[in-house]
Amino acid sequence: KNIAIIMGGYSSEYKISLISGNVVHQYLDKTKYVGFRIHIFKEKWVYVDENEAEFPIDKNDFSVTVNGQKITFDCVFNAIHGTPGEDGLMQAYFELLNIPQSSCDYYQSALTFNKRDLLSVLKPYGIKTAISYYLNKGDVINTEEIVKKVGLPCFVKPNKAGSSFGISKVKTAAELPIAIEVAYKEDNEIIIESFLDGTEVSVGVINYKGEIKVLPITEIVSDNDFFDYEAKYEGKSQEITPARISDELTQKVAETAKRAYEVLKMKGFSRSEFIIVDNEPYMLEMNTIPGLTTESLIPQQARAAGISLEDLFTNAIELALV
Ligand code: DAL
Ligand code: MG
Repeated sequence: KNIAIIMGGYSSEYKISLISGNVVHQYLDKTKYVGFRIHIFKEKWVYVDENEAEFPIDKNDFSVTVNGQKITFDCVFNAIHGTPGEDGLMQAYFELLNIPQSSCDYYQSALTFNKRDLLSVLKPYGIKTAISYYLNKGDVINTEEIVKKVGLPCFVKPNKAGSSFGISKVKTAAELPIAIEVAYKEDNEIIIESFLDGTEVSVGVINYKGEIKVLPITEIVSDNDFFDYEAKYEGKSQEITPARISDELTQKVAETAKRAYEVLKMKGFSRSEFIIVDNEPYMLEMNTIPGLTTESLIPQQARAAGISLEDLFTNAIELALV
């Protein structure tokens, strides 16, 4: 079967996506599948062959013609973090074209990629969240009101972005305007959240062979002020799997992440982030195209569960093809 591994994307996360996509390509079971690396950039959608030669994708049917031969795809493996791969745009396109895909559907993608909306939907299900304040580009910035609502320190985040791009931890009201400006570089909506002083954990939930499975939980200890880009990708953190929390608490966190997956009717991959304060998990966000580099959390968690990368990717494709 022909598998289109889509990677790149239009956001700051494109470099990480290229690494994730290449890992998927490398570990794809070659006895079952032929993997095609497809770069999705604003300027071009192209199939990139082994010699790095590029062939344009026909957007009418997502096919590609190589040496006069038209190639179509049986399944898309989505490795694009951020827009347009994690926010529902590509998902809707493939759904219209009737091409099976490894990720969740367009609605779940759009909802989960929007931190404000995701947390608002999950709150009535009893999932706890930080106290938050929202801004849209052009809104008056009332620092007094913000501090009154969320306190200090607080986190300023682009509402729709990933890999900690545009996120600042703010300690004084005077730092707010600059942090807000930085966040607006990534998105025209901002979420400002109260600081949760606790243990950060990352919880992978996947559909594995038809059953919803929570992977071993990872505890994150950042050398930096928070789990920022450097901590995530340049080794400035310790990622401890399984997390050093009690069995009881592990179960509680796992159940919370699983419940979120179930109520949203998720498919494919998800990785939810929580901060545990006083034995209660507070959800920060959910990633539906989580990093798949060999050092990324989902691959680490899968390994801890005895699932190889090859297995993990085969499973995702097989479920998409059902
Ligand atoms: N947004 C990054 C890739 C992650 O969630 O792993
Ligand atoms: Mg994220």
